[in-house]
Amino acid sequence: MSATAPQGAGKPVTTLKLAQMKAAGEPIVMITAYDAPSARVVDAAGVDVVLVGDSLGMVMLGHTSTLPVTMDDMIHHTAAVSRGISRALIVADMPFMSYQITHEEALRNAGRFLAEAGANAVKIEGGTEVAPLVERLVAAGIPVMGHVGLTPQSVNVFGGYRVQGRDAASALRLIDDCLALEAAGAFAIVLELVPAEVAAMASEELSIPTIGIGAGSGCDGQVQVFHDLLGIGDFTPRHAKRYAEIGAAMTEAVGSYAADVRGGTFPGEDQLTHADEEVVAELERELPLTPGVDE
Ligand code: KIV
Repeated sequence: MSATAPQGAGKPVTTLKLAQMKAAGEPIVMITAYDAPSARVVDAAGVDVVLVGDSLGMVMLGHTSTLPVTMDDMIHHTAAVSRGISRALIVADMPFMSYQITHEEALRNAGRFLAEAGANAVKIEGGTEVAPLVERLVAAGIPVMGHVGLTPQSVNVFGGYRVQGRDAASALRLIDDCLALEAAGAFAIVLELVPAEVAAMASEELSIPTIGIGAGSGCDGQVQVFHDLLGIGDFTPRHAKRYAEIGAAMTEAVGSYAADVRGGTFPGEDQLTHADEEVVAELERELPLTPGVDE
């Protein structure tokens, strides 16, 4: 456990614990992870919530939006993440069109995350319009995190990745969406690309925690994309801060490996195994073999 991990950091985080953290004014730390090694890294650093975001479509799979991500992609990556986590709460994103068609299909898909992939909860995008579904999922025993503001699965409706809730009417609609999600039983809500003042007011109005991304420090917690924080990839969104330059370090390391191979200095003595002297002697006696002639 890192020196910066909070007290009680060994116990698994639950949705109840997140509610207690909001009540105590203790900030909630959430970050994405998409595979077992990154899950181990963030869990060891003491984060509270790990999100297997459908951002993996862009970050890991090379798509230009989250829309092509499938249930099978999400189950595959969530199962890998859950193998690397011992403490953090694992939330899995329900991908585009996995919960919009019918409640029955949404229940079946959401259930797979908990039953097959080791997730503790699911996240769905939307406000008042998804509240009845949130109620159904929670009634079935599936904890739900909401997601309002810029909801990337609706990028084509928004006409781009833009800040939401800039004017009073849309800000009020956004807060109303949050209240509907809370009433439906959501245990927390992500607020993405929302003006800081609006996010702070929403957080005040709600008794469940808000987790901001590009929504200022008035939220009850923050979420960031693993690769953005670590400097892996060229693009850093304005709301992210690069805490390391791991991408550059990886390129440099692979470049050194390539130079060593080309220069004949890799593998060295430390990276190889020698055959026994008798084996070498026997091979030298036997070689070259005549093809097709048995001893
Ligand atoms: O998919 C994702 O990573 C997300 C976060 C950015 C909140 O939804």
